[in-house]
Amino acid sequence: MGWFIHHVNVQAFDVQESAKFYRDIIGLKEGVRTYPETVGAMSSGPDRIAAFGRDNRGIHVVKANPSFPIQNKLFHNPTIGGHFAITVTNLETVKARLEEAGHIVSDAGVYAMAGMRQIYVFDPCQRVMEINQAIDDSAGRYPRRGEAHDLEMQEGGWTLHHVNLPAHSVPATVTYLRDLIGLEESRWIPAESSSISEFIVDPEMLAVFGDDNRGIHVVKPTAEFAAKNGFKHNPTIGGHFAVTVPDLEAVKSRLSASDVQFTDAGSYAMAGMAQVYAYDPSMNLVEINQVI
Ligand SMILES: [Fe+2]
Ligand SMILES: [Fe+2]
Repeated sequence: MGWFIHHVNVQAFDVQESAKFYRDIIGLKEGVRTYPETVGAMSSGPDRIAAFGRDNRGIHVVKANPSFPIQNKLFHNPTIGGHFAITVTNLETVKARLEEAGHIVSDAGVYAMAGMRQIYVFDPCQRVMEINQAIDDSAGRYPRRGEAHDLEMQEGGWTLHHVNLPAHSVPATVTYLRDLIGLEESRWIPAESSSISEFIVDPEMLAVFGDDNRGIHVVKPTAEFAAKNGFKHNPTIGGHFAVTVPDLEAVKSRLSASDVQFTDAGSYAMAGMAQVYAYDPSMNLVEINQVI
């Protein structure tokens, strides 16, 4: 089944401050959000939401709204704690499987993004996950058949590379993504001189869904990971997402110039990828990487 990560939603305490980080330091171009004709109860405006990427794909920077589920008659609150969204071609089947397995599904219909039907569910670690489907293929919003997280090249040459999903039981989350969401597990391709080889080969510690290390990384939260690797950040705790940029050196210079602490991990985990970690202003961990 074809699928891709459609967007990552990050909670922001100050949307403008976060938008500035993604725009001026990471170097992403701000996009325009497109809404459906009948829009749900949601606040717009630059102090509530900022979007990076076209056709609503990419990154959504959002201010938390505690009453969002009541206003929109949903069980889940997608504005608190962030979430990510997977686009599939068989949303009705996925919803049926989730419900049959006893999961509560919020079916929001088409309410927030033009041409996209959205549902929300909790993953096995009670994090909100969105699954969506384009209601027609006219805008080319369908995943290509058989492609696992085919990349969307955004203006300026950046892409959403992966989402790191913390899982206290990696096998339970693997089962959930495989049997209920319908994704196919793939194999990690390690960096040549990986400092985490033992971590990578252990199915209790790490699993990947998607081609070429893209897509979803399911990772066991590991307290000693940062210290063992000499990192300032621990990418295994609390989850993170990764953007691939065309010029990582330029991002590092801008992080330094803005006094943002970052971990320059080099190529330590994924084949052919240099990785950097930093917190955005609301303490969401962001990975910025580049093909080497
Ligand atoms: Fe979303
Ligand atoms: Fe990562």
